[in-house]
Amino acid sequence: MSQLQDNFGRKFHYLRMSVTDVCNFKCSYCLPDGYRPDGKPGFLSLDEISHLVGAFAEAGTRKVRITGGEPTLRKDFSDIIRVIADTKTINTIACTTNGYRLEKHAREWFDAGLRRINVSVDSLDPRMFYQITGENRFDEVMRGVNAALEAGFERVKINAVLLKNLNDQDLPRFLHWIKHTPLDLRFIELMETGLGRDYFQAHHLPGSSIRDRLLAEGWSLDPRGAEDGPAQNFSHPDYQGRIGLIMPYEKHFCDSCNRLRVSARGKLHLCLFTEGGLELRDLLQSAEQRPELIARLERQLLLKRETHLLHQGFTGVTQHLASIGG
Ligand code: GTP
Ligand code: 5AD
Ligand code: SF4
Repeated sequence: MSQLQDNFGRKFHYLRMSVTDVCNFKCSYCLPDGYRPDGKPGFLSLDEISHLVGAFAEAGTRKVRITGGEPTLRKDFSDIIRVIADTKTINTIACTTNGYRLEKHAREWFDAGLRRINVSVDSLDPRMFYQITGENRFDEVMRGVNAALEAGFERVKINAVLLKNLNDQDLPRFLHWIKHTPLDLRFIELMETGLGRDYFQAHHLPGSSIRDRLLAEGWSLDPRGAEDGPAQNFSHPDYQGRIGLIMPYEKHFCDSCNRLRVSARGKLHLCLFTEGGLELRDLLQSAEQRPELIARLERQLLLKRETHLLHQGFTGVTQHLASIGG
């Protein structure tokens, strides 16, 4: 069996597959004006998804994360999970959601085969949540997180983007929450995108400020596991939850990159911040195309750069993360 790898010895077991660009939230760091349809042809069909996942699985992928936009807005979301679950060598199916439909559907998605879920909760203050996301849905999202905990998911993660002058007073509340709740809390450093340059300058807060506070308060850095991606994870004997920091502006962040991305219209992205998507859709039309698709993936991976160029202000084609699935 083949294993996708790049010129820097990194192996890719993990596919982040976007299934839609559409989102019903208006997060100020992502889609401040809400979703605007771009008139391009539709998103990958179930058959195309099945061919895509089949090829990646044969090329060594073991984990698939379904992303968006807001992936759960797809009417066939449960079918998408089932299609991936039918691919025998995929052992982990995850999704990243704004939590809006979670309360109602957590059990159904679990039953379809979803095992991990990441929910964006950028503030535990409902007014700040509204200010950041443009949606007054804090209570619904929190009920969704509880529904996910009850449904039996292996792992429920909470994503919060660190934002200076917005949610930077929230750390004590987040810590209180995970003291007795087995959540993985993930603080993500704001990344500059094509549309978000001014916003970035106003609100970027280095993740190291959180790391220093955690270390001072008795948290310790966990050893990095073989399957871990670029996050740094921390734990504390008095807390049931754990904390992860994603700090893309730190040196060596990209050394542990283990993931590839495919956009909702079937383009391969070798990095969140790269020149452009590489077309795969023409090879997603039948199972017979699988060898050709794998050969294309292997070739294209050799173009993957050692690191993103965010430090130099280069955001590539990435206008906002909803277009690539974060
Ligand atoms: P798991 O390890 O599968 O839980 O993934 P994750 O925590 O990265 O998943 P999630 O979709 O919740 O990602 C959270 C956010 O972290 C993403 O939307 C990105 O903003 C950021 N992120 C994740 N992976 C990368 C990466 O490879 N590079 C950069 N720059 N940011 C990333
Ligand atoms: N910087 C950091 N994280 C971002 N996300 C979206 N845009 C950005 C950005 N510019 C994160 C959201 C969500 C995930 C899907 O992507 O917080 O958790
Ligand atoms: Fe929607 Fe996610 Fe972007 Fe927020 S970060 S606007 S929830 S795609």
